[in-house]
Amino acid sequence: MIKPEIEYKTSFGEFEVSSLVAESAVNYSLFEIGVKHTYAEQLKVFNKLNSGLNLSNGKSFANQVHFQNAYQIPVQRWFPYREGFSVKLVNTFIKELGISGNIFDPFSGSGTTLLASRLNNLNAFGLDVNPISILVARVENEQYSLENIKQIEYEIKQLNAITKSSIIYKTIFNLADKIFNQEILKYLLQFKEYIKSVKNDKIKNLFLVAWLSIIEEASNIKKEGNGIKYKNRKRTATGYITIEKEIWERENFPEDKFEFVKHKLLNKLETILSDINFNYGDSGKKPNIYKGSCLEFYKFFPEEIELSFFSPPYCNCFDYFEIHKVELWLGDFVSDKDQYRRLRNTGFRSNTNALNNKPIIYKNNNVEKLIKLFEPEKLWNKKIPNVVRGYFDDMHTLLNQLYQQTTKPGFIGIVVGNSAYSTVIIPTDILIVDIAKEIGFKTKNVFVTRYLTTSSQQKCELEYLKGYLRESIVLLEK
Ligand SMILES: C[S@@+](CC[C@H](N)C(=O)[O-])C[C@H]1O[C@@H](n2cnc3c(N)ncnc32)[C@H](O)[C@@H]1O
Repeated sequence: MIKPEIEYKTSFGEFEVSSLVAESAVNYSLFEIGVKHTYAEQLKVFNKLNSGLNLSNGKSFANQVHFQNAYQIPVQRWFPYREGFSVKLVNTFIKELGISGNIFDPFSGSGTTLLASRLNNLNAFGLDVNPISILVARVENEQYSLENIKQIEYEIKQLNAITKSSIIYKTIFNLADKIFNQEILKYLLQFKEYIKSVKNDKIKNLFLVAWLSIIEEASNIKKEGNGIKYKNRKRTATGYITIEKEIWERENFPEDKFEFVKHKLLNKLETILSDINFNYGDSGKKPNIYKGSCLEFYKFFPEEIELSFFSPPYCNCFDYFEIHKVELWLGDFVSDKDQYRRLRNTGFRSNTNALNNKPIIYKNNNVEKLIKLFEPEKLWNKKIPNVVRGYFDDMHTLLNQLYQQTTKPGFIGIVVGNSAYSTVIIPTDILIVDIAKEIGFKTKNVFVTRYLTTSSQQKCELEYLKGYLRESIVLLEK
């Protein structure tokens, strides 16, 4: 069995066929005595999807399918993109599959796949609908010359010399007063104005990413679970309590708010500069990054692709615009509510805000069987069945288009998590395999990397099926 320490050098063939499947396969007799009718029905669908499938133990990838380690990794650490995976993971797949052609990420996020391709000196391109992702991915994948490094050093000195302004800068973001300490907000906006005045776009964008990356730490909110939460709302043994905003701010921010913001910004810029200095001369090929929907990627990139490696939004109602809402508004990426709503409509149909009345064209029998098992009164939103249908309709469109452009042989690597609605599990990993098979792909492997946790109530309800609540890497071959 491959050990995590040497995972970088793994060969896919060496992975042990997992005992995970056996662990999760529940004895049918449990259901015959009437534990829960829907579990038996779900298992029938899961068993059908599993038949003839090669599921492997991918535990050694467990710490590479999320962002935790990336907080320390040069370049990736420039912006905390919590939903990203690791460069090392992509690197392993590039090396093991012997990729030498074009690489594509249809959900490029912070640009990790592109970064790994660039380090391997391979042509890559990416696409995303969120302007924050586009900016971060472009800045992290930019090539900085010696001249640029001098300019960055110069601008850092200029920024260091800034003093408190008496001008009151305004933002149109209507939640800003709630989300920020008033003084901190004022200084964040002052520094943003300065950054916007930087003449060279490459340097300006780099400084903007540094500024965006400190917003969460300098605010009264944090990204957690499916959304943003106030830091002054705390869970106690008897329920939630809210500490008064002013009291919480006094306890958590220093007296000198100007120095606090400036120090955070300068610290981030110093980290970025040291990463650039370290990586200078080793920059590889610069990838192309487009703003657009993955469902129309052929419009941006009509060439052949040897490897597509990506992590789509999961079918769990997570909204990438909502999670970056503060940065989108404060950074002037959106200027009114209508624009924000329209932007949300451009996303993959993985959440209720992305359901832009688009018709469902493709229907998958197994998805429909699972949707039928939903107990409508237990769903927190009545649009959920259509989110699930829309999700697999979009997935079908994407895989179909990828098939047209993938070389033979060529590969698709998909990092994806399964989800659950009330007592029904949506096993996205094996449903993707099902759809991909219909299109013509072969399944090279499904690596089960880790198991996911749910709320304690769901945990009890899903006890017998918990083996399906997991994050996997689906590897397809054309
Ligand atoms: C899981 S994240 C990808 C993270 C990326 N692998 C990384 O390491 O940073 C999914 C991304 O899909 C993007 N997305 C959602 N709908 C999309 C669409 N229709 N077309 C392209 N990108 C989309 C989101 O904005 C988000 O950045």
